[in-house]
Amino acid sequence: MPWWRTRRSEADLPSASPATGMATVSVDAAGRRRVEDIPYLLPKDQEELNRLDYQHYVLRQVCRGNVLAPVAKLLCEGVPVLDVGTGTGRWAMEVAEAFPRCQVTAFDREPPRSSQPLPPSVHFVQGDLLQGLPFPNQSFGYVHQRLLVAGIPLQQSRIHI
Ligand SMILES: C[S@@+](CC[C@H](N)C(=O)[O-])C[C@H]1O[C@@H](n2cnc3c(N)ncnc32)[C@H](O)[C@@H]1O
Repeated sequence: MPWWRTRRSEADLPSASPATGMATVSVDAAGRRRVEDIPYLLPKDQEELNRLDYQHYVLRQVCRGNVLAPVAKLLCEGVPVLDVGTGTGRWAMEVAEAFPRCQVTAFDREPPRSSQPLPPSVHFVQGDLLQGLPFPNQSFGYVHQRLLVAGIPLQQSRIHI
């Protein structure tokens, strides 16, 4: 275990699990909850979810929308969408609402823990991006991945996903 992470109590925490199952978590010296089995630098707790939500709203405001790529026509037609490292799932939910013909797959190491349940057009898939995406080629018409910089080590930034 890295030196900056200390388990509070083994009993409080889920045990080790396969990459596609429940994540292994710990609590660090500052009391922040962290996912152990991926090299992700940021915490995964309510405080971080609040920060991600806030950041999402700022970005949406600054960028004047959720989608900058010229894919509005495809989205209106209902192409399947993938959101890699969905975090709170906020982007996925808003895109699903804006483009009701789209099915949005929200992928992350841990499920979103939002007070708002995912709508039927957003489907969560749990997994580790660094093990490869668990979808056949050509499954999606639009893939979105935002702010995963703290989760992809340089050595693994060239994997084929
Ligand atoms: C900084 S957050 C960004 C969330 C969202 N994309 C946004 O823009 O608000 C990064 C997310 O990627 C997820 N993540 C990090 N490493 C991952 C990995 N190896 N596999 C799957 N998800 C990962 C984290 O759990 C976290 O939810």
